[in-house]
Amino acid sequence: MLESKSRKVQDYVGSLAFDRRLYHHDIAGSVAHARMLGRQSIIPEADADVIVTGLRQVETEIEAGRFAFRPVDEDIHMAIEARLFDIVGDVAGKLHTGRSRNDQVALDVRMFAREQIIEIRRQLRSLRSALVRVAAQNSSVVMAGYTHLQQAQPVLFAHHLLAYFEMFTRDDSRLSDCYARVNVLPLGSGALAGVPYPIDRDFVAHELSFSSISANSMDAVSDRDFVVELNACNAIIMLHVSRLAEEMVLWSTTEFGFITIGEGFTTGSSIMPQKRNPDLAELARGKTGRVYGSLMAILTTMKSLPLSYNRDLQEDKIHLFDSVDTVIDTLSVCTDMVDSITVNADRMRAAIQDYVLATDIADYLVKKGVPFRTAHGVSASLSRHAAATGKGMGELSLDEYREFSPLFEADILDISLDSSVNARDVVGGTASGQVENALQNARTQLEADEENN
Ligand code: ARG
Repeated sequence: MLESKSRKVQDYVGSLAFDRRLYHHDIAGSVAHARMLGRQSIIPEADADVIVTGLRQVETEIEAGRFAFRPVDEDIHMAIEARLFDIVGDVAGKLHTGRSRNDQVALDVRMFAREQIIEIRRQLRSLRSALVRVAAQNSSVVMAGYTHLQQAQPVLFAHHLLAYFEMFTRDDSRLSDCYARVNVLPLGSGALAGVPYPIDRDFVAHELSFSSISANSMDAVSDRDFVVELNACNAIIMLHVSRLAEEMVLWSTTEFGFITIGEGFTTGSSIMPQKRNPDLAELARGKTGRVYGSLMAILTTMKSLPLSYNRDLQEDKIHLFDSVDTVIDTLSVCTDMVDSITVNADRMRAAIQDYVLATDIADYLVKKGVPFRTAHGVSASLSRHAAATGKGMGELSLDEYREFSPLFEADILDISLDSSVNARDVVGGTASGQVENALQNARTQLEADEENN
């Protein structure tokens, strides 16, 4: 039928140009289906064996680059079946018994998605490990923590990096949840209504390592929620990557100078020889738009589709493929970039304005019974006094402190960046003991994740 279509229409309607990367999943699905047909005596066992042997040959040909992809075969499913006919003859026609391309493609995409989730989780583990490594190597480095991009309170640089560890750990857990909903076998739904043969769906599920089978054939052939969900997981991962990338761009500027990104991850300018541009971080940040785009695209494609299968669904693969490819590549290079940084601890410390200790001064008075709001007011007046006299807070004398409150005693002069950091000794806080625990917990989690996957 397709032969009568013009080449232009064939190209427009076909998906072989992009869905050929599903060949492995398609063949694995067909092998399991053929075996099941034989076992259930829906087709003779001997025919099933011939089909399986033929499918293996097709796979070998594709892998060896000997397979001729022809535009007349509109998708990978048709291309493989057509070649199977060439190899085993008419018995190939029995493979599609009790199956439709609608449940077949849903199967292939789910198998592909499963595999990609495992790979994305592996890449996330590498990035999380790199963050832990850099945090541990710089565990005593103090920097200003920011809110509104204004210096707020001193924190350990490791604490800052471990915030990203938390984000990527949540991403991992989201993917694990997503996997459970991807891992449902749709095969056996037929075109939309089920199939009129005594098929054994549990056998196929077991052969293909699916943990459950779909409960409604109409839903199963038209559901792409799992693509939406995986693209959403990817969008959130890129959101996190883009925040980290942005901080790396900022920290590596001349003005900040907090870190130097490894040379292999920056690019020289063609006309300004002194420049090292953080192109890789910028591209990671930039590609976030593309991954969000894939999410919006699949959401929009799915919107208002009537049940059950509609050809619109063929577009799912384009959005899924681009999303997973971009995320995997981005995580992989970002891991190497994180590992490449040099931390300029002195610059980080020197950049801290000592008014970041204002909260600690207020807390000092609170511990002597002053209500926090009043203490905050005293500390604010002290900062203004320091600014007016051109002194840093650290240069104020005890007498000056006492002008603002008689409760100040000599130990007020002991307040320092390190005492401030270590005062935040609560679970989740920046005190060095807490950060050491957090590092240890992170390592334990990574080891457990490594074992479970
Ligand atoms: N290439 C199609 C897709 O990706 C396969 C399913 C075609 N089904 C159909 N009824 N035309 O969705």
